[in-house]
Amino acid sequence: MALKFMTADEAASLVKNGDNVGCSGFTHAGCPKVVPGAIAKKAEEEHAKGNPFKINIFTGASTGDKLDGVLTRAKAINFRAPYQTNKDMRNAINNGEIKYCDLHLSTMAQDIRYGFYGKINVAIIEACDITEDGEIVPTCAVGISPTVSRLADIVIVELNRWNPKELRGMHDIPEPKDPTHRESLPIYGVQDRAGTPYIKIDPSKIVVVETNEPNEGNAFAPVDEITTKIGENVANFFVTEMEEGRMPKSFLPIQSGVGNIANAVLAAMGDNPNIPNFNVYTEVIQDAVIELMESGRVKFASGCSLTVSNPCIEHIYKNLDFFKEKILLRPSEYSNNPEIVRRLGIIAINTAIEADIYGNINSTHIMGTKMMNGIGGSGDFTRGAYVSIFVTPSVAKDGKISSFVPLVSHADHSEHSVKIIVSEYGVADLRGKCPVERAREIINKCAHPDYRPLLTEYLENAPIGQTHFDPYNAFAFHQAFMETGDMRNATIKKR
Ligand code: COA
Repeated sequence: MALKFMTADEAASLVKNGDNVGCSGFTHAGCPKVVPGAIAKKAEEEHAKGNPFKINIFTGASTGDKLDGVLTRAKAINFRAPYQTNKDMRNAINNGEIKYCDLHLSTMAQDIRYGFYGKINVAIIEACDITEDGEIVPTCAVGISPTVSRLADIVIVELNRWNPKELRGMHDIPEPKDPTHRESLPIYGVQDRAGTPYIKIDPSKIVVVETNEPNEGNAFAPVDEITTKIGENVANFFVTEMEEGRMPKSFLPIQSGVGNIANAVLAAMGDNPNIPNFNVYTEVIQDAVIELMESGRVKFASGCSLTVSNPCIEHIYKNLDFFKEKILLRPSEYSNNPEIVRRLGIIAINTAIEADIYGNINSTHIMGTKMMNGIGGSGDFTRGAYVSIFVTPSVAKDGKISSFVPLVSHADHSEHSVKIIVSEYGVADLRGKCPVERAREIINKCAHPDYRPLLTEYLENAPIGQTHFDPYNAFAFHQAFMETGDMRNATIKKR
């Protein structure tokens, strides 16, 4: 059957006010880049006529500015899940314009299938190839595309010629059955496949929009002294773990979070000759993984997306035969699945905004109030990990904010799930320690020296119990920042 081709504007006209729209993409990688802009234009036209026009957007994770940014600026989004990193969207969430549901990424597709968000009306999927019988080959990410394409009434495929159709074969796309029919997910090694290399849907509901749009991949910030030190601390920790027999000498698959620190940690692991060549089982495959793959340090990487800079993706496309043997892209339901994480014994490394002295982690909220990005996949990996690690510089904003506080202003990962915390000062090993021992470990190994006396004062002054907790002083650091702009001015009230 011949596929229907349309312009972006014609495809956008299929999207109605109030629709649930599921999109491909996971970070900027693999998300649609043209139809969202046409929807934004339509929204502005409707708003100018006095008509309401807002839609609900579901994706694998964050997207590029050409999706989240343009639709936010057009005031075209009512609801958004499960993750975002866009500056304009962040502001719109924090000023109440967009309703945001910050979710574990592994649960998005199944929650849609379970009916928690209502019907998916339209899916918009970026593809590098499509066949007349409905095989869709995604580009640099899979996300929730299998589920939203299958469930949507209309599937708009952005056939983006910027991506080579020879990407076919780099994806593994299963979709699990739902309870009470769910079976074990048959991934026993990072390279295992459980599905097809394409999404297959009824071609009669597909419309195709041809595009030629580059990715929005920015380069990473150069590694600085602090991120280098954090990376070295993590790498040295692994070496000690192997030497002391707590980690197999053959090593375990690595998950590393998003951003510059995660990139620096991977680079430091690559530089450490005492760490064997290793595998990656993660959600986003960043530039450092690709560099380590070329040097032979990374053997294989399974992820949900190739979230790399544009020079890096162009390099991958030019050397596709080499990389196709070493990279597998999966739906977020599989890349981030806690069942697989625990089975493979994944080492999870994620970044904290703040940690408290007991090991609770805030990954999402600034001063407990303003959303930064979201929990992303950090919870999917942390809870099931062989060993869960959180990294953070000891301070933020030129030392005015301590990353280590008496009590986190928002909790994403509890003390029960967090095993190791690393700053540029050292490694706090929380395993086998009671709360007060953990507090001393974090203060003395990870906190910035400027804040160690204040944190110790809090700990020593708090009522004794399983956890030394003082409700009068628990937010003294945050209060000092709000009142004086500097946590170093915190005062611990004597009891
Ligand atoms: N209070 C206030 N601001 C803080 C802060 C704190 N305790 N700690 C950090 N910040 C600020 C930084 O100053 C920086 O601000 P800027 O953008 O104005 O420069 C910003 O937060 C980002 O911090 P940075 O140190 O550059 O870290 P990052 O870019 O690596 O991001 C997270 C850190 C936590 C925001 C990011 O990793 C994240 O969103 N994590 C949650 C999702 C996740 O873990 N996904 C991975 C799963 S695979």
